[in-house]
Amino acid sequence: MNKTIIVSNRLPLQVSINDDELEVTPSVGGLATGLKTVHKDGNGIWIGWSGLTSEELNPELEAKVNDAVTKEQCVAVNLTQKDLDLYYYGFSNRALWPLFHYFIEYTEYNTESWEVYRSVNQKFADKVLEHAVDGDKVWVQDYQLLLVPAMVKAKKPNISIGFFNHIPFPSYEIFRTFPKRKELLEGMLGADLIGFHTYDYERHFLSSVKRILSLEVNFNKVTYNNRIIKVDSFPMGIDYEKFEQAALDHDKMNEDEKSEIQKRLDQHLQKEDGVKMILSIDRMDYTKGIPNRIKAFEYFLKKYPQFQEKIRLIMLAVPSRSQVPQYQKLKQETDELVGRINGEFSTVSWTPIWYFYRALPFQNLIDLYTSSDVALITPVRDGMNLVAKEYIATRTREDGVLILSEMTGASKELNEALLINPFNNEEIADSIKQALEMPKPEQQQRMQALQKRVSRYSVKKWANEFMNSLNQVHKVYQIIE
Ligand code: G6P
Repeated sequence: MNKTIIVSNRLPLQVSINDDELEVTPSVGGLATGLKTVHKDGNGIWIGWSGLTSEELNPELEAKVNDAVTKEQCVAVNLTQKDLDLYYYGFSNRALWPLFHYFIEYTEYNTESWEVYRSVNQKFADKVLEHAVDGDKVWVQDYQLLLVPAMVKAKKPNISIGFFNHIPFPSYEIFRTFPKRKELLEGMLGADLIGFHTYDYERHFLSSVKRILSLEVNFNKVTYNNRIIKVDSFPMGIDYEKFEQAALDHDKMNEDEKSEIQKRLDQHLQKEDGVKMILSIDRMDYTKGIPNRIKAFEYFLKKYPQFQEKIRLIMLAVPSRSQVPQYQKLKQETDELVGRINGEFSTVSWTPIWYFYRALPFQNLIDLYTSSDVALITPVRDGMNLVAKEYIATRTREDGVLILSEMTGASKELNEALLINPFNNEEIADSIKQALEMPKPEQQQRMQALQKRVSRYSVKKWANEFMNSLNQVHKVYQIIE
C-alpha cells in the first residue's frame, strides 16, 4: 500500500529529557492537527528534527528517542549544534525568513551557513529516500527545506512530491537580491505541486521562475526538465471545531472552574459600563508589527482620551528564536515601549497595556479570545495568520470585531474584518474607535460571514485539497510520460 511521507523541520512531537528520562508529548499546533489524517492513515510517516541536538544525546538516549518517535509513526533527523546554529538560526532564520518577509536589511547571507543549509536539507532528503518506495507521496513543508524536493526527485523521479510554503513568497524585485536565488528555485521545482497560501505569493513565485530561470510558464504550470509542475494556492485553515467547542465549554464554566487569568479579566470587565478589552497574540517576531501596534494604541489613547481608563490592550507575545539578535532587539524595544506608555497613562486603578512575554496553555488562550471585544492583528508581513481565524472561531455569540492587517495572507479571505495598513497609525487608531463603537447587529453580521468562511475551509480540508491536487498532478504527469 502506498504511503505519504510528511517532512518538516520540527516533528509534531515535543521531546525533552528530564533526569535522563525521555518525555514525548504530541504537539497540538495547527499543522500537526491538519495533517493528522494524512499522517496516520495508510501507515504514513513524518520526518523531522526531534528538537534535541546530537550533543544532548548519548547513544542510549538516542535509541530511546528513536523508539519513542517510531511509536508515533515519526522518524527523527539528527542535527548537531553546528547544524542548528547555521541551518536553523543561520540560513533559515537570518537569511530566508527576513528575505521572504521583505526585511532585506535583516537578510544576512554567508557561504558557510548556505553550505550547512544544503547539507542539512540533504540529511532530510536522505531520510526520505531511505523510507520512500515508488508510488509513495512526499509532502515537504516550509522554507527550512526548500532544497529537499529536488534532492529527492534526483534520486527517485517516480515519487510524487508536494511542497508547501507557509510564509509569503516575496515579489521578484526582493527575491532577485538574494545570492542563491537560482538554487532556491531549482530546489523547489523538484516538487510536482507547489502550494502557497495566496494567489499573490503564487504569482510572485511564477514571475521569479520566469525571470530568473527563463522557464516557460503557462498559466500556473511550469515546464522544467521535461516535467510539468503545478503551482497553486491553498489557504490554510484551523481546527475550527476545536476552538468553537472550547469556547462553548468555557461559557458554561462556573466560578470555581475559572482560571486565575479569567478571574482577573472578569474583574476588569465588570468594573464599570463601557469597559472593553483589545487582544493581540503573536510570536515575538519583527514581522508581526508589535511596535507599530503599541505606537498606534498610544496614538489612539491620545486622539480619543474618552477611552482612557476604559480600554485595555492585552498583548501576548510568545518567545521565539531568541538567539537571533533582531529578536532580542525587538524584545527590548517592546519592553521599553510598553513601559513608557504604561508609565505615561496609568492611573491608580488602570494600566493601559497588560503584556505577557510567555507561552500560555490552550485554555488560557480561550480565556483571552472569549473575553476580548476586539482582536488587533497588525503584522507588517505574515504568510497567513491563524490567530485571526482562531479569534473568529471562538466568538460563539457572534460578536467581537477583528482588526486585521492587509499584509497578512488571511486578509485575502477575511474581508468583513476591519482591514488596516499596519504602517498607518491614524487608520489603526480610527479602526480601534470604530470597532469599540460598532453596534452589535453590525458585529454579528460581519462575524457570521467570517465564521461561515473560516469554518468551511478547515485545516483538514486544506490538507485534503492539497493531497487531492497532488494525486491529480501525478496522474497527468504519468500520462505525459
Ligand atoms: C512559522 C513558520 C513555521 C515555524 C513557526 C514557528 O509559522 O512558517 O515553519 O515552525 O513559525 O517557528 P520556529 O522557528 O519556532 O519553528
